[in-house]
Amino acid sequence: MYKILITHELPGNYINDMKNKIDADILFYDGRKNIRQWLIENIKDADGILITLNDRIDEEIIDNASKLRVISTYSVGYDHIDVNYAKSKSIAVTNTPEVLTDATADLIFGIMMAVSRRIVEGNEIIKNNQWASEWNPYYMLGTEIHGKTLGIIGMGRIGRAILKRAEGFDMETIYYSKHKHDVNINYVDLNYLLKNSDFVIIALDLNNETYHFMDYDKIKLMKSDAYLINGTRGKIINERDLIKALNEKIIKGAALDVFENEPLDPDNPLIKMKNVVLTPHLGSATLETRSKMAEVAVKNLLNVLSGEEPLYKV
Ligand code: GLV
Repeated sequence: MYKILITHELPGNYINDMKNKIDADILFYDGRKNIRQWLIENIKDADGILITLNDRIDEEIIDNASKLRVISTYSVGYDHIDVNYAKSKSIAVTNTPEVLTDATADLIFGIMMAVSRRIVEGNEIIKNNQWASEWNPYYMLGTEIHGKTLGIIGMGRIGRAILKRAEGFDMETIYYSKHKHDVNINYVDLNYLLKNSDFVIIALDLNNETYHFMDYDKIKLMKSDAYLINGTRGKIINERDLIKALNEKIIKGAALDVFENEPLDPDNPLIKMKNVVLTPHLGSATLETRSKMAEVAVKNLLNVLSGEEPLYKV
């Protein structure tokens, strides 16, 4: 009989169905201690774990496991897992890409539009009962999306899905990435992209090379009326540098779904900035996508335990 640890309930019936597919003792985090402590105590004889991006799986946790064969993360990102160390112990790491690409690209596009057309600001004005002036030609003017240049940094699945949306909105598109990809738009160097884009969207994974990739010097290359958008991982932007750049009006605004530390500190200066739209890591947050992610995460885990290839292996 296998032992499987699950740190969070997931949408859909996939976890319940596991019981019919495998002879396993399935243990849910019970909320009594902190998750890390619970993992350390229970992972000793576990065969598989199903975790989320909040659950940091490092050497200490892995060293406590003697039978572990699979770490299935309910996320596309795996920066919370020491993948190399897991692999050195012959533990498979699996994730849930593809099923969340479109939802994430929709959200990223949505926050870009929200900041440039001042949608959130407008909503707040009405809800705070501050819509005092009549319609007037200069009231709350924003920045158009169509016809503008979008620079996409990174051209993986999410970068491509953003590109598709941008083409539908008649944007000019350019991209920069470590490697050239087979896409039909101009591959440019990073300086060119930063200097020429009206919108810069970060579509990178977080890893040692991309940590604080966007810093003050790079933001300084952007146009003063450009916007910076991020919906992949917060640590790719040096947030202190971004705050400084926004304070100095080096760029016009930003839209962020991810942050260096989540949840965001209530004292974070970004919160008070009118030219910044913030959402709480909602990229994949639709019932449809989160259910599909559950299906994939469960299947990945079961496949590894039964000796088959998982759907997605890191
Ligand atoms: C979300 O951020 C994910 O990695 O799935």
